Amino acid sequence: MAKHIGILTSGGDTPGLNAAIRGVGKAAIRKHDMQVIGFRDGFRGLMENRIVRLDGKRLSGILTLGGTILGTSRDKPHKMPIGGKIMDMTDVIAENYYKQHLDCLVCLGGGGTMKNAFQLMKKGLNVITLPKTIDNDVAMTDMTFGFDTALGVAVDAIDRLHSTAHSHHRIIVCEIMGHRAGWLALGAGVAGGADVILIPEIPYDINVVAESILRRSRNGSPFSIVAVAEGAMSQATHDKLMIEVAKLDKAENKEEKQKIKSAIKLIKSETKKSTIEVAGQLETMTGLEARVTILGHLQRGGTPSAADRLLATRLGTACAEYIKQGKYGVMVASKGAETTIVNLEDVAGKTKLVPLDHIWINSARDVGTCLGDY
Ligand code: F6P
Repeated sequence: MAKHIGILTSGGDTPGLNAAIRGVGKAAIRKHDMQVIGFRDGFRGLMENRIVRLDGKRLSGILTLGGTILGTSRDKPHKMPIGGKIMDMTDVIAENYYKQHLDCLVCLGGGGTMKNAFQLMKKGLNVITLPKTIDNDVAMTDMTFGFDTALGVAVDAIDRLHSTAHSHHRIIVCEIMGHRAGWLALGAGVAGGADVILIPEIPYDINVVAESILRRSRNGSPFSIVAVAEGAMSQATHDKLMIEVAKLDKAENKEEKQKIKSAIKLIKSETKKSTIEVAGQLETMTGLEARVTILGHLQRGGTPSAADRLLATRLGTACAEYIKQGKYGVMVASKGAETTIVNLEDVAGKTKLVPLDHIWINSARDVGTCLGDY
């Protein structure tokens, strides 16, 4: 009997989502004779049973489109905002899964989606996921689709900022997405030749950053590009955070845990202002004028790059094959040129941070880029 599969996209949108929907859908229909439906707006659409039939025609002409034809949301099955309340809707979601006679649910998403899919797997649903996010921070895969496109946008921005920073003898602080991991800021900073790169994995000392800019100035380059990841934080903020994280491990009851979690949230929210603060501090400390550019959602929009189309298509078509083999409770991952599967329980709740000895970090240091620590 033909297998029935449902697809949803969840979390922040990413270039390459449509290429992946097309990859899964076309291979499922053409090669494996399956029936495919999509759910609108992530887990919310699954809960509300809002579907769209994905036939060959609907899957045609979407390879190059940015965003997701299905729509997305950040709603979680077990914490769904409904009429001003937060409710656990996993039972309703499971009911709809069976109502649609699904053999498998394909969830395209980032770290949050992996956790949600894992919850549904524990409820007994057959789930398979694909890793997407411009942040490239999903565990157990070399690469997530969306990253390459965003990298191109951020590098182009840094290239453009260079000529204006140079002409005006200014510091330009460019904020790049990535609230937990610094892959995008690091990659764009190295490829764009930023003079300073600040990422969440390496807490910075603003004195070190200012000194590196002054050194450039003394050497005849009175301008600098500072690439800052959204989640980059000073050593002082990082230390404050670590104290709370340590307290969390020792917390004895729920209330205490909640209080500490709120404190952690507050400290993390401080990093949201840090790009503007960094620019202000550097202006004062170096005497050079500073400007801020926040790339924001420009990095998430638009046509996927060729590399992202390739990655999304190969993960998507492999996904259809794994469904045919009945491999559930897994994420389809990219390992070098290979496509493989990893258990969802090894992915859920994990973040792939930039290792401190990563080749991009070493190369950045080798060409004299300041990473804020020394
Ligand atoms: O998770 C991807 C991401 O692009 C992060 O880098 C960023 O912090 C976040 O999404 C912003 O998402 P939104 O504005 O959609 O809430």
